[in-house]
Amino acid sequence: MRGIAVSRSIDVSAHRQAVEFADGVYWIGALDPTLRSFDIILTTANGTTYNSYLVKGSDGVAVIDTVKENFSDEFFARLESEARYEDIKVIVLNHLEPDHSGALPELMRRAPQAQLYISQRATSMLKALLHGDENLPYTTVTTGDSVSLGDRTLQFLHTPFLHWPDTQCTYLEEEGILFSGDVFGCHYCDKRLFNDLVGDFRFSFDYYYAHIMRPFKKHVMDALKLIEPLKLSQIAPTHGPILRERPRRYVTHYRELSTSSLSQGIGSDEQSMIIFYMSSYGNTARMAEAIAEGAGDVDGVRVSLYDLEGGETDPFVDLIEEADALLFGSPTINGDAVKPVWDLLSSLAVVNLKGKLGAAFGSYGWSGEAVRMIEDRMRGLKMHIPRSGMRVKLIPTAEELEACHAFGLEIAEVLVGKSGSGGVIDFADLA
Ligand code: FEO
Repeated sequence: MRGIAVSRSIDVSAHRQAVEFADGVYWIGALDPTLRSFDIILTTANGTTYNSYLVKGSDGVAVIDTVKENFSDEFFARLESEARYEDIKVIVLNHLEPDHSGALPELMRRAPQAQLYISQRATSMLKALLHGDENLPYTTVTTGDSVSLGDRTLQFLHTPFLHWPDTQCTYLEEEGILFSGDVFGCHYCDKRLFNDLVGDFRFSFDYYYAHIMRPFKKHVMDALKLIEPLKLSQIAPTHGPILRERPRRYVTHYRELSTSSLSQGIGSDEQSMIIFYMSSYGNTARMAEAIAEGAGDVDGVRVSLYDLEGGETDPFVDLIEEADALLFGSPTINGDAVKPVWDLLSSLAVVNLKGKLGAAFGSYGWSGEAVRMIEDRMRGLKMHIPRSGMRVKLIPTAEELEACHAFGLEIAEVLVGKSGSGGVIDFADLA
């Protein structure tokens, strides 16, 4: 092997040279140990890495992914330690988010003969991200396509939404190395670079999955169908350790993480409805109870009622992901829904709620905006709102509680296949 030798004492922060981890296959990425927040929503307790790779074949060199733009010097120094720009035949971008495409325009200026390979869905992003460089030549590829470097072959796997619509994986057939892009990555910066040498990164791996991949579980499962049959000697993601020791256990772990842990608790013939509420004087609580009773009258619906005053919101996310219908109740205070309801609604970006049934309700004093605001948020989460919400002015009467019962029953009937929709029920308007 050439390049920097891999040993227990490896420290890639001490130099700017490529690191060879299989015959003719090099890490040429960059370390970002001081990063503490990624994409705003993730904390990165010890930074991250931007992994880029170089593959040498008998008929040219391939560069797979680049780095964030302000880490370009480190990337180019490592690349130049092992290859000449004129030998670069292939550039693969598995994902065009700026942390991987930042050095692309300059790389293509230095290697103008190279052909860029991206997914079909990456083309619009290429134009949007690389203003002024949108005329870069490229070829789109998908599952079944490959490119030859002579004695080396790069196969492409169409794996969208891991983590953007454009993402793909690239497989080096002869070595059994999967250049996976964001998938199987984590924000964990360690100068020892390899999973058998770095510190304990299990938390980072799962945290990354929960925030980056979890909303796209279905797409993870689709990708695993392509990845699991491959002979895998190593997985080389774009962030965090290179998975060279027992790489398949990470594939297995992804399948476990993407498989529902709760589904066996509810009968497969039952639909799960969860009603969350907050109540300042007990009025919205009474509405919630009446709605729950109404919904519970429908066969095949399992109803759960949770007062958000009684707990933190994070533990509810698993339940919400598995639920078929979600109802949120909030009083209107100062023209708004109350904070615990917003806290819960704002924590749901990590799960896919598309198509789940939603409804809102609440008691109010004089303006009652909360119900419509919650509905807007649910629509923003791509939920289906079959029935406009129920509002009650101050203390619900017996008649209004009967209407809440009917409201719950109606939503539950929609859930089990009896459709129905209507406008806002507001007893103040009927008075
Ligand atoms: Fe590492 Fe989605 O970029």
